[in-house]
Amino acid sequence: MNINVYMEHKNEYKKTVYLIAIISALGGLLFGLDQGFIALSLNTVEKVYAINTSEAEAYTSILALGGVFGTISSGFTNKLIGRRNSLVLAGFIFTSMSLISGLLPSFEILKIARFFLGFAVGIASFSVPLYLAETAPKEIRGKMGTMFQLMITVGIFVIALANYIISEIIKNAELSLTIMFVFLLIFSVLMFVSCLFLPKSPRWLLSRGQTDEARNVLSKIWHTKKAIRREIKEFKITSNKTINEPLYKLICDKFFLKVLFLGVVIQMFQQLVGINFIIYYAPTTLGYAGLTGAFSLLILYFINMVFTFPAIKLTDKWGRKKLLYMGSIVMMVSMLSSALAFYMLNKLLGIESSETIFFRYLLLASFSIYIMAFAVSWGPVAWIICSEIFPFRSKEVGMTITTMVNWTFVGVVSFTSLSVMKLFGNFASPLMFAGFCFLSIIFLKFFVPETKGISLEEIENNLLSGCKLRDIGETKNN
Ligand code: BGC
Repeated sequence: MNINVYMEHKNEYKKTVYLIAIISALGGLLFGLDQGFIALSLNTVEKVYAINTSEAEAYTSILALGGVFGTISSGFTNKLIGRRNSLVLAGFIFTSMSLISGLLPSFEILKIARFFLGFAVGIASFSVPLYLAETAPKEIRGKMGTMFQLMITVGIFVIALANYIISEIIKNAELSLTIMFVFLLIFSVLMFVSCLFLPKSPRWLLSRGQTDEARNVLSKIWHTKKAIRREIKEFKITSNKTINEPLYKLICDKFFLKVLFLGVVIQMFQQLVGINFIIYYAPTTLGYAGLTGAFSLLILYFINMVFTFPAIKLTDKWGRKKLLYMGSIVMMVSMLSSALAFYMLNKLLGIESSETIFFRYLLLASFSIYIMAFAVSWGPVAWIICSEIFPFRSKEVGMTITTMVNWTFVGVVSFTSLSVMKLFGNFASPLMFAGFCFLSIIFLKFFVPETKGISLEEIENNLLSGCKLRDIGETKNN
């Protein structure tokens, strides 16, 4: 976009748009709270319910299964009841499931409740980026996308810290677990209630012909009537193309399939590089290495949160692809060095020497550097690219499928990584993830476009004019 146009638009939108963004991104916070819940509560869950490793893995990974179903359903709810009401629905499910879990029901019911918490996370992970993209002025859409990831990382850190403090102070496991769920409940209620005050997505309203209500919402975002008229005109041009397009036609479209391949593999790699091996299981795996897991985990989650901040600027300054390259390379090296540390610690088992201490610190340092690299690259960028590459008319279908793939691979990773360590040795899982980081570099080279600084319309035009995937982000004027 031309700089003058940017400056012109910059003064046109109201600051309230940031408030709208923060409230809607509370869905990201709930995403993070549920993702981060398990790590420092699993011990307490194991104590209260007397479960073994595979039951613990099942309890952990059922969140992802719920996420898959939640995503599928959110494709429909977002069309039928809209983005805002889908967020309200997610808030309601979060609230009721946290309440049920807090009552410490049987283990089966607790698992079902976690499935539905995942279901709500699935709805949120679909609806928040979509709502933000449709409501935020395009000049700050990139920033807003990273806001979603930032909220996820804040949620992960906050819940881990809370669960750590609760389990340290309250030694009665049942009471401790109840309070952990009450903490989750407080945030769920906050999200549920505040989402009721969010305006509906103007684009969704326009697609249903509710122009007056859309104008009303737009007047909360833009200062001038001229800007509101321009927005409505732009929305109408794009939404006109969307209405009445049958689903089968969208799905069979060769350009859609091409870009779907890109989105699916990006989301697959976002998980296969192994982030949730660390997010879910670091206390356990660091424990295998003789480190006190809880404190180290809090450091890791803190790093995850802090290193998402630079991503807010860098995604637009350095570009998406550069960040992804850097992330993959650094994550690969960190996973290799943690595999080495696990291997050596296993050899030195039972011996307390300076060598043991060295490899413990090597492991912690490797995990920390890995998290820094993920937070600034694959964490936000995978979500951002998936919200940019689909033509407007197939955005909902495309994002449903790619988000679903993400959750499927959260499940695959969380369900298998501890077992792989048990079966082949502790070094095996990090080695496997290093392999996936390497494959992701090859994928980046051949398929991933740079989408920084190009309008969504240009991306769409490039795609439809038959450009190679890795070139669809290139501006024709340069
Ligand atoms: C991923 C999650 C991950 C989180 C960590 C998100 O982008 O989708 O699976 O747990 O980042 O910060």
